[in-house]
Amino acid sequence: MNEESILHFQSNTNLINATLDEYLSIYDADYQVVADAMKYSVEIGGKRLRPLLALEFCEMCGGNISDVLPFACAIEMIHTYSLIHDDLPAMDNDDYRRGKESCHKKFGEANAILAGDALLTYAFQVAADGGANPAMTVKCVRALANFAGIYGMVGGQTMDIANEDNSDLDIDTIRRTHKLKTGALIRAACEIGCSCAVATSEQYEAARAYAENLGLAFQIEDDILDVVGDANVLGKEIGQDAENGKVTYVTLLGIDGARALADDYTRQALAAIEKLPGSEKLQELTKNLLERKS
Ligand code: IPE
Ligand code: IPE
Ligand code: MG
Ligand code: MG
Ligand code: MG
Repeated sequence: MNEESILHFQSNTNLINATLDEYLSIYDADYQVVADAMKYSVEIGGKRLRPLLALEFCEMCGGNISDVLPFACAIEMIHTYSLIHDDLPAMDNDDYRRGKESCHKKFGEANAILAGDALLTYAFQVAADGGANPAMTVKCVRALANFAGIYGMVGGQTMDIANEDNSDLDIDTIRRTHKLKTGALIRAACEIGCSCAVATSEQYEAARAYAENLGLAFQIEDDILDVVGDANVLGKEIGQDAENGKVTYVTLLGIDGARALADDYTRQALAAIEKLPGSEKLQELTKNLLERKS
């Protein structure tokens, strides 16, 4: 990435982190442990990809960052809740997340479940207070619910769990799983960015096509890193997919085949936005994600 893009995304990341910190500065001795667990899991790290995408689409489509910021933070809270629950013993049973102990390791399972529940519901509280007008707020809240729930991330996580140890799993089912478990929140981010800028139908269509392709490329890369990544850089243990009997693109296509497919989806994501004015920085970020190590 060039210097200007690095500074741009760094500055937006700082804004997102500062706003999340404000939202998560919750102090009440009666339920402090879960408030602490929420803050811990959000603040120990994370690339902030989804809120960055929300801000980027809003800006590209001519909107105000202040309108999208609450929704961007809400998406990161929902994403973090999905990671807390994903790491639980009943799901992927992971002890490390974002370079630290996962939430249930640090706070115990019951508190981790509650911290996930609380982040999910708090996200909707924050979102309901966001937006420049009621129409914008309702549209974004609905998108959040749709893409986070059974029609989105939760639906995909259900398929992911249901297909553990399924040696007959085909590529198309893996693609539909990835599209939901990972693609849906990425799509929420991009489309909410558009909604906060009252985007044109062409801009929405570009956001949808971009997000769907990026979501697939991003999860394929995640599955590749689970095999060839460095746990210290990645911030989570590797080899977990094989241990949990996950059938991934890497299982079916090998590392090289999976890399080729991630390249291809990234190219399609780039093609979706190349004609959008002001998309140069997003194009750089997108290419960068292919080479990510964490
Ligand atoms: C991890 O997401 C889970 C997937 C959907 C692949 P990220 O790789 O965006 O995780 P953080 O937010 O940077 O920790
Ligand atoms: C998780 O996919 C996607 C979510 C919706 C949380 P993974 O299970 O592969 O994510 P990691 O590897 O644990 O981050
Ligand atoms: Mg999982
Ligand atoms: Mg996992
Ligand atoms: Mg993974």
